[in-house]
Amino acid sequence: MSTSKSKTKAKAKHDVKAKAKSKSKSKSMKSSKIRFEIDGKECTAKPGQTIVEAARDNGVYIPVLCWYEGMEPAGICRMCMVKVGGRTMPGCTTPVAEGMIIESDVPELEDMRKAMVEMLFVEGNHLCPTCEKSGNCDLQALGYRYRMMVPRFPYQFPLRLVDATYTKIMIDNNRCVQCRRCIRGITTKDGRHVFAMTKRSGKSTIVADRELEAKISDALAKKAMDQCPVGAILKKETGFALPIGRRKYDKAPIGTEVHK
Ligand code: SF4
Ligand code: FES
Repeated sequence: MSTSKSKTKAKAKHDVKAKAKSKSKSKSMKSSKIRFEIDGKECTAKPGQTIVEAARDNGVYIPVLCWYEGMEPAGICRMCMVKVGGRTMPGCTTPVAEGMIIESDVPELEDMRKAMVEMLFVEGNHLCPTCEKSGNCDLQALGYRYRMMVPRFPYQFPLRLVDATYTKIMIDNNRCVQCRRCIRGITTKDGRHVFAMTKRSGKSTIVADRELEAKISDALAKKAMDQCPVGAILKKETGFALPIGRRKYDKAPIGTEVHK
């Protein structure tokens, strides 16, 4: 047998093997779907998905505040708490496992979430009628979802910093819920964080790096405003571009974008 013939034979053998390998790989990928249940609904998830992500893919809304699609979850706000086997855990940081039975839409958790929304309203100064983010605000939308009328906790009326001395944006800490979406999600092209948190505990304040902030593009300033779940970061010179009444949550309540 010539050398070229034996080479062709070896290549054909290799191709058959590779085909079989990729077939079995795609088969195992298909069978690697995770099966789980949430509020009695049978669902499937991709390996590595968190409970919040998998629930959304299956048309089940779990309320979130610090979680943002495409952003590394941080487990800060605790709005997404669910019950797994009787234990309460954050849905945004817990990966789904085979056979999990998850409870989310149950009175105990819903009341806990409502209480958390109320706490956020009383610990800051949220004056929705005068806020540029009204109708686009996740906290306001959650307040409507939970039919919050008068919070069960006393108002704190804290004295918080409003800083309009930045170039592209302004920061109103009265509205900040300290979800850190701005810190995690807004970086320059070379990976530097534009926002940071100063001080601790009840005195925590969101600030921006003045040098970086002055150089951010309009698109990044808008992204910062859009990713902030409330009206704590506003882009300058674009107030009320979309009139109240035609905004995201004016059209449909929060959660309806997920429910199938
Ligand atoms: S400014 Fe907005 S995005 Fe940043 S921590 Fe406060 S609420 Fe979250
Ligand atoms: S959304 Fe899970 S802790 Fe905030």
